[in-house]
Amino acid sequence: MSGAARQVVARVLAGRGAQARESATVYAPANIALVKYWGKRDEALNLPVTGSLSISLGPLGSHVTLGRWAGAADDAMWLNGEVLPAESSFARRASAYLDLFRPAADFRFELRARNTVPTAAGFASSASGFAALAKAVDALFGWGLTERELSILARLGSGSAARSLADGFVEWHAGVAADGMDSFAERLAVTWPELRVGALVVSAAEKAVGSRAGMRQTVETCEFYREWPARVARDLADLKGALEKKDFAALGAVAEGNALAMHALMAATRPPLVYALPETVAAMRSIWAARGAGLALWFTMDAGPNVKLLFEAKDEADVRALFPGVQVVAPFAGEDKL
Ligand code: PMV
Repeated sequence: MSGAARQVVARVLAGRGAQARESATVYAPANIALVKYWGKRDEALNLPVTGSLSISLGPLGSHVTLGRWAGAADDAMWLNGEVLPAESSFARRASAYLDLFRPAADFRFELRARNTVPTAAGFASSASGFAALAKAVDALFGWGLTERELSILARLGSGSAARSLADGFVEWHAGVAADGMDSFAERLAVTWPELRVGALVVSAAEKAVGSRAGMRQTVETCEFYREWPARVARDLADLKGALEKKDFAALGAVAEGNALAMHALMAATRPPLVYALPETVAAMRSIWAARGAGLALWFTMDAGPNVKLLFEAKDEADVRALFPGVQVVAPFAGEDKL
């Protein structure tokens, strides 16, 4: 982690102690962006060029238990009950992030992570993972940070993690400050209990170009990238309008259009970034045909070939008939009684 990231952590934790309790257990949900984040204005702090807006996936996310490890050499880590070798990419990323919070050079963490995001479902677990890690260090050292401060800390691990501190619809404000203290996410005061998100798994293989490298290539080489900030501003305004009016067709149209615009930027990047597989395009065509026949079904996609369906509860049987393998999430399921 960079010196700039350390300075941000020092600023957020100013005056707070480093007395660890035995252990702390926390949870953070995964999220899927309806208006995407693609492009950083600062790579060390994961500061975005634009704002973005996501829906948190309720029960799909990361459970993390963090404590102090008595061993000397490396942090000790388990993922879904299995020991993680220190040289695995997950362990290295998590240890590098935990370096930001080590109270002494010889302090070692014991980390047990359990993902309820099915790894094969094509939902990224890095957002819920880093949000849970930020919450876990806060709980372990008893700092009592605000959700805004936790969002800033989670962002240092992965940009989209800034949006995984809250449930429901979450907006990440791009901010303008060089240190990113105004670049954090917060929940919008809208609930949509009927909303459903479906995961269509086209391929569970790891992506060839990750989001960090992909974003950098797009910002550096895509001549249309200059159009993106204005497009995102329009999409954010339209999506918030759709949420206020509870207009599902408008929500779907903004989300699908924004995802396709992001994938157009990717395709116009040099070398080209094309994440879609033939099955991805086939799914899109089925969705468009079904919509043409009257089904209120839209989709979104991230930096990979998997398709996420957006629909309402009343249409679940029709969507399952069209895509028998779909995994369905009800983002507001835990909030029925609110
Ligand atoms: O947070 P990262 O670096 O994994 O980037 C996420 C990028 C997208 O998933 C494509 C878009 C988004 O807003 O989540």
